Amino acid sequence: MSTSFVPPSRGVLNDCVRLATTAPSLHNSQPWKFRVAPPAIEVYADPDRRLPVVDPDGREHLISVGAAVYTLRIALRKAGYQVGCDLLPDPDDPTLAARVTVGRVAPVDQATEQLAAAIPHRHTNRSPFANVALPADAVEQLRAAARREGATLTVVGPAGRDAILGLARTADHWLRDRPHYAEEIGRWTGLGVRHDGVPAWAAGPWDALEIMPVRDFAAGVPGPRTREPFEPHPTIMVLATEGDSRVEWLLAGMALQRVLLTATWLGLATTPISQPVEVPAVRAALTPRAAQMVLRVGYGRKSGRTPRRPLTEVLLRAGSPAR
Ligand SMILES: Cc1cc2nc3c(=O)[nH]c(=O)nc-3n(C[C@H](O)[C@H](O)[C@H](O)COP(=O)(O)O)c2cc1C
Repeated sequence: MSTSFVPPSRGVLNDCVRLATTAPSLHNSQPWKFRVAPPAIEVYADPDRRLPVVDPDGREHLISVGAAVYTLRIALRKAGYQVGCDLLPDPDDPTLAARVTVGRVAPVDQATEQLAAAIPHRHTNRSPFANVALPADAVEQLRAAARREGATLTVVGPAGRDAILGLARTADHWLRDRPHYAEEIGRWTGLGVRHDGVPAWAAGPWDALEIMPVRDFAAGVPGPRTREPFEPHPTIMVLATEGDSRVEWLLAGMALQRVLLTATWLGLATTPISQPVEVPAVRAALTPRAAQMVLRVGYGRKSGRTPRRPLTEVLLRAGSPAR
């Protein structure tokens, strides 16, 4: 193993930040900012990009930031460096989510190669999937991905799956009836989306069978919605953590992104379904642990790349405040 320390150039660090911004986030809110302060990159959670109606505690806000932190870690490892990561390192600044530190030059292992290769190809897929079961080996790799980041991923059996889909539909209806829900989702969707939010084309069709509770990101788009039957027996998984602290929300985001990148590497399509974890009574019914996300995984048709904010918008200058 090499013991040399050759600090990465600012260009390499900026490239890694750019890759980190491809991470998934609630409604594509991209609630992150980065400060390149060699040999570290600080990742901030941007409170101005919280979604108070669906996420009043900021849990999904930190899950989104955790997904970006994980992507940054993998990008830096792939660039050939050891990487350290401190979560919430400053008790006086709760917006500083993580300090990711670049260490010595280190050979890149196969797992990192695969995860890094998947980064640009991971997209949320809201289309019908093939009605095909996942191979046991693929399921085990997804579960191991969650475990390695300190979370658990449970694949739900047929009875549990139908129960969870029912709970998710209930949660979706409950949320839609909440004051300001439509306004909030409307701000992050539709035809005006440019650098953030979910564009109309990414909303996908409506399930003609009304079984799959894919969130309706096309509600504000004029005109009739395409309807297609979704797979009748989807593979549903629940990502959970032991506790439910802010650190664990960040860990859940890291585990989520590792699972999603592993799925992408395996040629699998994924849809986060978070309505059931946004309604406390429904969330508590999912698992005795702290449920953080419900995932649908399967074989889907190709999905596209949603927009991201340019680097100039997410990079903080040295010495400037995070807000
Ligand atoms: C915490 C979190 C919650 C999410 N919840 C949902 C959801 O309920 N429904 C959905 O279709 N996508 C959901 N997503 C996916 C985001 O909408 C998606 O990541 C974002 O629009 C960016 O698109 P991309 O994943 O294709 O890059 C969620 C993602 C995260 C990180």
